[in-house]
Amino acid sequence: MPKPILKWAGGKRQILAQIRGHFPPEEDINSYHEPFFGGGAIFFRETHKDTASINDVNTRLMNFYEIVRERPGELIEILSGFDHPESEPDTSRPYSKQSESGDKIDNYYYQQRELFNRRPRDLAFDEVEEAALLLYLNRTCFNGLYRENQSGEFNVPCGSYTNPDWVQESRIKKASKALKGVEIYNEDFSYIIDQAKEGDLVYCDPPYDPNGEASTFSEYSSGAFGKEEQERLRDVALKLNDKGVNVVISNAPSVGEIYQAFNEDGFRVSRVGAKRSINSDGESRGEVKEVIITNAIEMRERDTHLTEYTF
Ligand SMILES: C[S@@+](CC[C@H](N)C(=O)[O-])C[C@H]1O[C@@H](n2cnc3c(N)ncnc32)[C@H](O)[C@@H]1O
Repeated sequence: MPKPILKWAGGKRQILAQIRGHFPPEEDINSYHEPFFGGGAIFFRETHKDTASINDVNTRLMNFYEIVRERPGELIEILSGFDHPESEPDTSRPYSKQSESGDKIDNYYYQQRELFNRRPRDLAFDEVEEAALLLYLNRTCFNGLYRENQSGEFNVPCGSYTNPDWVQESRIKKASKALKGVEIYNEDFSYIIDQAKEGDLVYCDPPYDPNGEASTFSEYSSGAFGKEEQERLRDVALKLNDKGVNVVISNAPSVGEIYQAFNEDGFRVSRVGAKRSINSDGESRGEVKEVIITNAIEMRERDTHLTEYTF
């Protein structure tokens, strides 16, 4: 079975089975779509459809998956040539002494981070190398977090790992096979209105604060995903519902409220428990509640073990 290659905030390891339990049976799904792909935990571990589309607004992330699908061998080769994050910077490459803004470069990790952030603006753009840098930083940065500053620069500090595996050869090869034939997009999630057809399944996992509120900051990219964005997602879900598309959304409990008026349209909200492994606030790890919002007919018929959440 393929596994996610990247560590990604909001990865759904703890509640995979509960989310999967809301999907219609595989044979009843025409195509599968994931508009907020991130690390793709559900896609890689839980779905087996030949026809699928995946999407994320993060451009570097979707370049990464295209390279995994098309050029896995080259990607593995570049990754194999990288050094340990705490080793000396490579003097044959740019930014071995200081960053563009004049900060001292202490080690190989910070040189790699600077190279990642300067492309494609200043250096000849090489999409395979960019994908390699993304995975390298993901596996060696603090907490496996992806975070950008206001200017869209990756700004997570170096992590502390004795023996980090940034090559991930086996996962890349398996993921490459799983992605064959999958359409990869780098759009706003609303692309799904045109993309999904009757009988398809759309699984949405938008950004949200693990403490229970819709996200007011962004862990993933320089944009934010607040209440208005959540309402826009709801409106997209309603359009999909009108088209006969099955929709499953995982979200913060507070967001369940905005679907409350659509019970008659078939939207139900269930509460599930999840342990968050990545959090911007180290203090607030632990069990948090999430909700699953769905119109999937099969689940309404089988929904005996999950309690409906009333607000
Ligand atoms: C909670 S994460 C998804 C995690 C994923 N389920 C996993 O297994 O790793 C949310 C993702 O939505 C993406 N995103 C944020 N705003 C978006 C938008 N307007 N359209 C599409 N994707 C967006 C973020 O870049 C992020 O990767």
